[in-house]
Amino acid sequence: MPGKTTAHTRKILILDTTLRDGEQAPLCSMNPGEKLEVARKLEKLGVDVIEAGFPASSPGDLESVRGIAAIIKDCTVAGLCRALEKDIDAGWAALKKAYHPRLHVFIATSPIHMKWKLKMTRDEVLKQAVSAVLYAKKYCNDVEFSAEDAFRSDPDFVCMVFGEAIKAGALTVCFPDTVGYALPDEFGKRISYIRKNTPGIERVKLSVHCHNDLGLAVANSLSAITAGADQVECTINGIGERAGNASLEEIIMAIKVRKNVLNIETRINTTQIHSTSRLVSQVTGIKVQPNKPIVGENAFVHEAGIHQHGVIAKRETYEIMTPESVGISKNQMVVGKHSGRHAFEERLKWLGFNVDNDTLEKIFIEFKLLADKKKIVNDRDIEALARGASATVPETWNLDHWAVNTGSALGATGTIRLKYKDGKSKKLVSLGDGPIDAIYKAINQIIGKEPELELYEIGAITGGSSSQGETMVRIRWEDRYYNGHGVSTDVIESSIKAYLSAINAMEWELAAFKKVKK
Ligand code: KIV
Ligand code: ZN
Repeated sequence: MPGKTTAHTRKILILDTTLRDGEQAPLCSMNPGEKLEVARKLEKLGVDVIEAGFPASSPGDLESVRGIAAIIKDCTVAGLCRALEKDIDAGWAALKKAYHPRLHVFIATSPIHMKWKLKMTRDEVLKQAVSAVLYAKKYCNDVEFSAEDAFRSDPDFVCMVFGEAIKAGALTVCFPDTVGYALPDEFGKRISYIRKNTPGIERVKLSVHCHNDLGLAVANSLSAITAGADQVECTINGIGERAGNASLEEIIMAIKVRKNVLNIETRINTTQIHSTSRLVSQVTGIKVQPNKPIVGENAFVHEAGIHQHGVIAKRETYEIMTPESVGISKNQMVVGKHSGRHAFEERLKWLGFNVDNDTLEKIFIEFKLLADKKKIVNDRDIEALARGASATVPETWNLDHWAVNTGSALGATGTIRLKYKDGKSKKLVSLGDGPIDAIYKAINQIIGKEPELELYEIGAITGGSSSQGETMVRIRWEDRYYNGHGVSTDVIESSIKAYLSAINAMEWELAAFKKVKK
């Protein structure tokens, strides 16, 4: 759904693969509720295509792509499929209810992949690519074809496969640098070559998909855009296999800040970038490095006196883009307990949350309680409240009360009362090496499971001693990982909330598995 372009401005499509290639990365898995939340946010961000998953990879992935396809209206929703009929069947089962479905079919074309992975000849690969596109076309008009490891493939062979895929009906052909091997200049030249030598390419979109093994994924994507690529495939925070994929926020801001040179436009609403990055970081438990461009904590912080002085005198001395342009608002809403509901609702909307009346009421009550504890409630606080209230994972266990006793000489004691989904409460007291250990042990005894705590991180949402504490945890149970996130003015409470949200994600999945087995 490309928007309007001016006479000299070219429109580039953004395919976001955070939920597919991003989610494939070690420890980046998300539960179906989290994926849905991320998909909604990507729609608000304005990506053109959401690659929602790899439906044939597991029944869970198929279901979660189906769930996303059912609710996303403003973007195309794509599912990845190997060039196999059974994958394409699963892809279509997941996508058939989508408003704008796309089947994304791929097969490798490089000598090393064909020989060692596929054990196929060139002719066999060509034949399978064509029959997969033809098969996908029976279901869906919008078919993308990717030549996996295209950069390490014979360029003329890629042109031939692309040409045949186009004849078979592919509307987009994608040229991935699967192992992140290319250098920007040669990648751009290769894209020009493909453009010039692929029969029928003028009728379809040419996409690129770059990995970051040499830290060049963004540079290669930009080079490809300059050489005529129509679509780039990328992920939020650059998450993805190994060193990750090209980072969406870096590509987008390069396009925006250097419009004078690139003359490119996208549909992205850049003010949604920061909150999208935080959401992905929270649901995956993968923190963004502080010096990461655009979304790192330090990306807009000026430490050196000489820089501070310059920025105060004239912002552009050391800033090439404004924090506001990526959604960091200087104009934090200074709200307190006397602030009105209307102003609060407006702020929520500005932050990208369009909630129904019941949810608004719930968040507003919590906001008033928070405003009683804190002098200033800022955007990060409001965002945390809104996320908590619109959580998509059902609460098997709900926090009722807690207390801890701790000191320097003795161990700690944790007391907790949890409410089960049937409304019944359970209370337990446990000893531990510290308050968190004690309270987590008490929770484990109540739920009757002892998941491994793989990650526990605590920080402050904003600066200052009145900031809310934010905790991220990752637990492991039967070789599956579950992330949890909790926020509170009390760090122990935020730790309990985070642990319980991971436990609830685990209980939800275990219950879903039980249903599938029956
Ligand atoms: O990196 C890659 O080649 C891919 C394709 C399957 C598009 O992710
Ligand atoms: Zn990839």
